[in-house]
Amino acid sequence: MSECYGHEPVMAVQVADLMVTDREGVYLDATLGMGGHARAVLERLGPKGRLVGLDWDPEMAAHARRNLADFGSRVTVIESNFANLDEALRREGIESVSGALFDLGVSSLHFDKPSRGFSIRHDGPLDMRINPSNPLTAAAIINQWPYEQIEHLIRVVGERWSTRISRAIVQKREKKPIETTGELARIIENAVPVRGLKTHPATRTFLAVRVAVNYEFDNLTRGMQKVSSFIRPGGRMGVITFHSLEDRIVKETFRLKIKLGDWNPVTRKPAVPSDEETAANRRARSAKLRVIEKVEEGK
Ligand SMILES: C[S@@+](CC[C@H](N)C(=O)[O-])C[C@H]1O[C@@H](n2cnc3c(N)ncnc32)[C@H](O)[C@@H]1O
Repeated sequence: MSECYGHEPVMAVQVADLMVTDREGVYLDATLGMGGHARAVLERLGPKGRLVGLDWDPEMAAHARRNLADFGSRVTVIESNFANLDEALRREGIESVSGALFDLGVSSLHFDKPSRGFSIRHDGPLDMRINPSNPLTAAAIINQWPYEQIEHLIRVVGERWSTRISRAIVQKREKKPIETTGELARIIENAVPVRGLKTHPATRTFLAVRVAVNYEFDNLTRGMQKVSSFIRPGGRMGVITFHSLEDRIVKETFRLKIKLGDWNPVTRKPAVPSDEETAANRRARSAKLRVIEKVEEGK
């Protein structure tokens, strides 16, 4: 699902190849993470080329700041939700960019740190907030949302056992609140047939809850819309998705922009990782990169 693991950015060479059209331009990395894609882009730029990067998670912004320190003043790291990228860019006095990348989801560090509550395998509090000041937590959804709302949330990510899982959650929480990721994972394991499954039976439920906690689809829609007016003619927007729901949002948004005539496709079919990359990083398997380019006047 949506993940960046270790320090290995997904499809870094393709990203740099497809995104950089002006070596002296200003680029936006809307999801800095550990800064791997930002580095790949910066290494393609000339001495005047710059990158502005956002991460909603203050901890990740701090990692990126450290990891990209060798680029000095050519990099600006901002802690911000990309849904508010217009305000973040304007505060920096940036009116336009030559390209913008969104690498969706959360990072390996989020999964590896049990206290953040993203992991099925490491027990931690049911949290899942990318930004810890977000008022909504996974615990609030699991313990307070009505049965129908939980069932719908899980069903729309394609979980075929949504009824069984939601019933099991509601039965358990009547006795005592469900407080940890481990408890939730066990409730799901006991509620559904697990034989023959390639992934953990709680994978889709965890994804659904994470997406809801962080308003991921809403942020994505707003981020792509807002960045459109900042990208210069000839500049590009690229989005890496990791599951079909977010990919559908990107595909439909790009299709509409192309139809309206302001943008051209760069990737007619989404770019995917090489066999070599998927063999080395099995989590890159589901990655898809879509890129469009803003039409230049008179062309
Ligand atoms: C898949 S990782 C990005 C990895 C990065 N490209 C790299 O090379 O290391 C996604 C990152 O986006 C951040 N993120 C998720 N939603 C965000 C949002 N709405 N606004 C800004 N950052 C967000 C996460 O905190 C995470 O660090």
